[in-house]
Amino acid sequence: MQNHFDIKNDSQLTLYNTIMSTGSIPREFIQRLLSQVDIVDLIDGRIPLRKKSSNNYFACCPFHAEKSASFSVSHTKQFYYCFGCGAHGNAIDFLLQFDRLSFPEAIDALAKHAGIDVPRETISNTAHSSIDTQLCDVLTRIAKYYQTELRQSKTAIDYLKNRGISGPIAKEFCLGFAPSGWENVLQQFGTTLPLKHQLYEAGMLIKKDEGGYYDRFRERIMFPIHERRGRIIAFGGRILDKGDPKYLNSPETPIFQKGRELYGLYQVLNANRQIERIVLVEGYMDVIALFQYGITYAVATLGTATTAHHLHRLFRYTTDIIFCFDGDAAGRTAAWRALLTTLPSLRDEIQIRFMFLPEGEDPDSLIRKEGKDAFEQRIQTAVTLSSFFFQTLSAQADLTSVDGRARFVKLATEHLNQLPPGIFQQMMFEELAKKGRTEIISAQMPPQMKLQKARAPSSLRLAIILLIQQPQLAHCITEPLPPIDLPGFALFFELIETIKNNAAYTTGTILEYWRDRKEGKLLAKLALLEHMIPASGIESEFLGTLQRLKKLANKQQIDQLLSKAAKGELSQEEKYRLHQLIHDKK
Ligand code: GTP
Ligand code: MN
Repeated sequence: MQNHFDIKNDSQLTLYNTIMSTGSIPREFIQRLLSQVDIVDLIDGRIPLRKKSSNNYFACCPFHAEKSASFSVSHTKQFYYCFGCGAHGNAIDFLLQFDRLSFPEAIDALAKHAGIDVPRETISNTAHSSIDTQLCDVLTRIAKYYQTELRQSKTAIDYLKNRGISGPIAKEFCLGFAPSGWENVLQQFGTTLPLKHQLYEAGMLIKKDEGGYYDRFRERIMFPIHERRGRIIAFGGRILDKGDPKYLNSPETPIFQKGRELYGLYQVLNANRQIERIVLVEGYMDVIALFQYGITYAVATLGTATTAHHLHRLFRYTTDIIFCFDGDAAGRTAAWRALLTTLPSLRDEIQIRFMFLPEGEDPDSLIRKEGKDAFEQRIQTAVTLSSFFFQTLSAQADLTSVDGRARFVKLATEHLNQLPPGIFQQMMFEELAKKGRTEIISAQMPPQMKLQKARAPSSLRLAIILLIQQPQLAHCITEPLPPIDLPGFALFFELIETIKNNAAYTTGTILEYWRDRKEGKLLAKLALLEHMIPASGIESEFLGTLQRLKKLANKQQIDQLLSKAAKGELSQEEKYRLHQLIHDKK
């Protein structure tokens, strides 16, 4: 299935640019939009759904490979979920995941589906993004020019041939050639003063001390850097022979931040409908050679260390990432640095592995020597983050001595505290306890961890589950709830308020309020939970849990007042209140 915004020609590019000119979208609109589309229609337009019961539909999951249908779409909940891979969400999430749109793009596509216009709160962004668009446009034209130049330069063609790059791959990656000369781009594209300024803004020109400009890229093989949607935002240029610098990149510009972009991501997304894993390599040539040999899932950072931004971008497409490093000491140090960067972003479902190449090889040289299968074999056997983590740390301490073990545990604990709380963190701590043969760790585990272990299904949890699955239940709550001192109560309270204050309430719309908040994931999980209560009994079960919660609140207040009474601190009013509470309890 095609992306809505796969850009194939200039008129589509213009359309895309118009759509991209978004201001921020009012929240009320997003809620209204969600209440006006039917997720069943939306999904059925992309993957044919089969009916299971009056309100439930199913299909083979589009997010993982499977033969039996575990992907289910609920009409009443306006929510989809896959029992196989856990993919889930509302109509917006579906467009984010399936069409791989950004959030504003998903809103636009959904509005189009519903036949309504998107209001914009501000127009300042619009002006801003049209400048960006102009910069991308000029870079796209320059890339075409470099491609033409490549076809005319025997030296450049020979260079690529010598490196074993095929014609189709050169085309796929839009490789070009910047000829010698100081003013090629300047003369062709900078015919007026504003245009010169624009080229400078886009990073293509360098200012001379004495005034005027000259071309940044001369006599280099040019690698255009595409953003996710295929617009060109920068270039890398490799010198033909030896010389310094070997690679020259565009500087940071309004449309290009090195720490965010990944070379090859656009081509990877184009080549694969579903991405099972992504290999992160170091160089332009590595990405291209791997691609040519059939490994169409490698991307490279642009001569910088991996950042959290890079990771978050990759996590949008896959949960399986393999870092590829040189096998030497420098490679191991770089891998350790990458590991530390990933720790805070490691949600439970993410798998990170590390692959070390034989000394003196890079992916480009290795795949040419060994071929695809052997290289994929290496990917298969890459070490997991946890074994690389413990290997590296145990190499730094003597685990046979008490002092050494204490040092090891201290270091590891500091790092593991960076992990988000969850099953993975818990497993790492358990592993650490085994390796350090010590109990002290559990004392340092974050409090959430211990709580999770001890948690029994409580009334409150059941109340939240029922409410998120059947938001109409909120209207059974006629009198205000007394505050209760329980983890999760604030969330329950907010859930009730949100449902009561909004006309449209399905699971899908309610979850929209928690997008980007940490409780959102928990709520989504609870929205999927099988509670086993028959439909006819749900309302009375809910009222029952409310009753139990009220009793608990009552008890908490009595305890609090009693302990105050024991210290002789009760006011007349509080005495009266205590009396009332004890009376209510009976
Ligand atoms: P080839 O020699 O063409 O095979 O490239 P390579 O990728 O094997 O080169 P290397 O391992 O030296 O560099 C890896 C990556 O680091 C490159 O793809 C560039 O992104 C970056 N890089 C290498 N040399 C330079 C340089 O001189 N300047 C800058 N800014 N980046 C560089
Ligand atoms: Mn190389």
